[in-house]
Amino acid sequence: MNNQNIFNEIRSKIDIVDLIGEYVPLIQRGRNFFGVCPFHDDTNPSMSVSREKQIYKCFSCGASGNIFTFVRDYEHIDMKEAINILAKKAGVTVLNNTINKKTSKFDKFYEIYDLANKFYQNNINTKAGQKAKEYLQNRGIGEDVIKEFEIGLSLDNMDSLTKILLQKGYDALTLDKVGLSSNNHDLFINRIMVPIQDASGRTVAFSGRIYNKKSDHKYVNTKETEIFKKGMILYNYHRAKEYARRDKYLIIMEGYMDVFRASSVNIKNVVAIMGTALTYEQADLIKHTSNNVYLCLDGDNPGQKAMISVGEQLEKIGINVKVIGLSDDEDPDSYILKYGADQFKELINKAIGFNDFKLSYLKKGINFNSDEEVLQYVNSVIREASTINDEIRQEIILKKLAKETNLSYNTLEKRLGEYQKDAKTKINKKMELAKPSNVCEKKKLTQYDKAAYGMLYGMVSNKKYLDEFKNAALYFVDAPYRYLLTEIEYYYKKYTTIEIADFYTYLMDKEDILELFKNIVSYIDNDIINDEAINDFMKVIKDYNVRLEINRLKDLMKNTYDELEKAKILEKIKLLRIGE
Ligand code: CTP
Ligand code: MN
Repeated sequence: MNNQNIFNEIRSKIDIVDLIGEYVPLIQRGRNFFGVCPFHDDTNPSMSVSREKQIYKCFSCGASGNIFTFVRDYEHIDMKEAINILAKKAGVTVLNNTINKKTSKFDKFYEIYDLANKFYQNNINTKAGQKAKEYLQNRGIGEDVIKEFEIGLSLDNMDSLTKILLQKGYDALTLDKVGLSSNNHDLFINRIMVPIQDASGRTVAFSGRIYNKKSDHKYVNTKETEIFKKGMILYNYHRAKEYARRDKYLIIMEGYMDVFRASSVNIKNVVAIMGTALTYEQADLIKHTSNNVYLCLDGDNPGQKAMISVGEQLEKIGINVKVIGLSDDEDPDSYILKYGADQFKELINKAIGFNDFKLSYLKKGINFNSDEEVLQYVNSVIREASTINDEIRQEIILKKLAKETNLSYNTLEKRLGEYQKDAKTKINKKMELAKPSNVCEKKKLTQYDKAAYGMLYGMVSNKKYLDEFKNAALYFVDAPYRYLLTEIEYYYKKYTTIEIADFYTYLMDKEDILELFKNIVSYIDNDIINDEAINDFMKVIKDYNVRLEINRLKDLMKNTYDELEKAKILEKIKLLRIGE
C-alpha cells in the first residue's frame, strides 16, 4: 500500500464528528455539526463539521481540513506526529518510513538537539555526574524524575559537546546558530541540564542550572533560535496535556523544580511558565488542554503579581481561573517537600476564584488612614466588581467595601454604574478587534474567480464535471488554478474517485495549492453544485478566456505592420466575438 492509501484508510476509520467532538463541543444543526472554532479567538459556533464529507470548515477564519490537519493544528504538532496519533487510534500500523517526512531546513537543528540531549543524559550517569546526582538527591529529585524529564549534565570543560558535534560533521556556524556553541566553545559548562521540548515533544532548547559552584546566573538558557521561540513554549506541555485533559484541569507553576516535584508525587497535569509573562500563543496552548486552570506561582510578591497578569490573560480567552495560595516564602516545590502531596491536594481543593484573589491582592498593604490610598483602593475594587457578571456578588463586594471604608453603599453603587458603562463599550470594542480580519482582507473574488472556485469544487466532488470541462476545451489562465486542476486529474487517474477529506491529505506537501483548495472549500457551499451551476461557471470561464484572447490579439495587432497579417488577426478576433 502506498502512503496515500494508508492515510485514506486511517481517515476512513475515524469519524471526524466523533474526533472533533472530543476536543470541542459540537451541536447538530441540520446535516452538519457546529462548534466554536479553536483556530481563532471566538465564542460563536462558526466552525461546521460535515459527517458526510468528513471535513470541517470555519466560516469566520477560513480554517478547513480533515482529521489530520485538525489534530496537527489543534495540538500544535507536525504532520508526522498527527498521523501517528490517528493511526494508533484507528488501529492502523504505519511504518516510520511510510510518512514522507517533509524535510525542513530545521531538521538539522532537531538532530543536533537530540544528540546533545543524549550526550548530557549520558554524562550524568558517569563518574563526572556523581556530584550533580548528589545535588539532585539532596533536593529529593530521584532517578525516576531524572529519567522522566531527561535531566542531564554538561561537562566541566570548554568544548566537549562542540567537539563531538563537529566530529559528526556539523559545521561551527550551525552550532552557533542553534545556540549550543560560540566560536568552537560550549555554551553550557558544568551545569545540570534541563531539556525543553516543544508541543511535539522535540527538544528545542536547554536550561542549565548551577549546582556546585557560585555563579551570578542560576540558569543559563538557550537563546531564541528558529526552533525555539520562548513565547510559544510552555515547559512540560507535551507531557502534561494528556493528564490535563483526563483530569479536566491544568496547573500552572513557575519553574522546572516545581514541575519535577509535582511529578514526583504523581501530579502530572502541570506546566511551568519559566518565570516569564504569558503570551497569547501560550494561553492558546493552555486552552487546548482544558478550560480550567489552577495558578500556583511562587508565594512571593513577584509570583503574586504574575498571578494577576497571567490570570487576566487566561480569563480573556474564556478560561476559568482559580488560584492556589502559598505563603510568602513558599513555592510549590518547597511546599510539597515540606507538607507532602496530600496537603497540596488539599490546597487545590481550597483554591479560590480569580476575582476573589484579585480583590484580596488589591487590599494588601493599603494604608486606610491615607485618603488617597483608600480612594485608589475603592476605585480598583469597583472596577474589578464591574467586570463580574453577577449582581449578588457585586452587592456582596460593595457592602464589604462600604464597611471597610466607611463610605455609603449608594455612593459606591453609583460609581459601579459608571464603570459598568465603561466596561460595556470596552467589550464592544474588544469584540470588534477580535473579529478575524483575514476573511475581509482576502483578495476580493471576481466573477471569474468565483466561477473557477465553483468549477474546481465541482470537479473534486464529481468526475463528470472534470470531463465536461476538458471536453469543452476549457482551460485556466492562472497558474494556481491550473496546478490544482492537474492535481485533481492526477488523483482521479490514480484512485478513480476523490473523497474531499482525503484530498486534503494528498495536498499536504503542496502548500500553495492546499491554501487555494482551502479557500475554495470555505467559499463554496456544497449545495450549490449541480449541472446548471456548472454550466454557468463554464460559461463565465469561457467568456473570460475569450476576452483575454481578444485583448492579446488586439495588442498583437497594434505591433503588426504587415497589412495582410493584420487582416488575419482581425478575422480571428471577429470569429472569437461571434462565438462569444
Ligand atoms: N528562570 C530562568 N533564569 C533565571 C531564573 C529563573 O530562566 N535566572 C526561570 C526558570 O525557568 C525557572 C523559573 O524561572 O525554573 C522559576 O525560577 P526559580 O523559582 O528561581 O527557579 P526554580 O526552577 O524553582 O529553581 P530552584 O528551586 O532550584 O531555585
Ligand atoms: Mn522556584
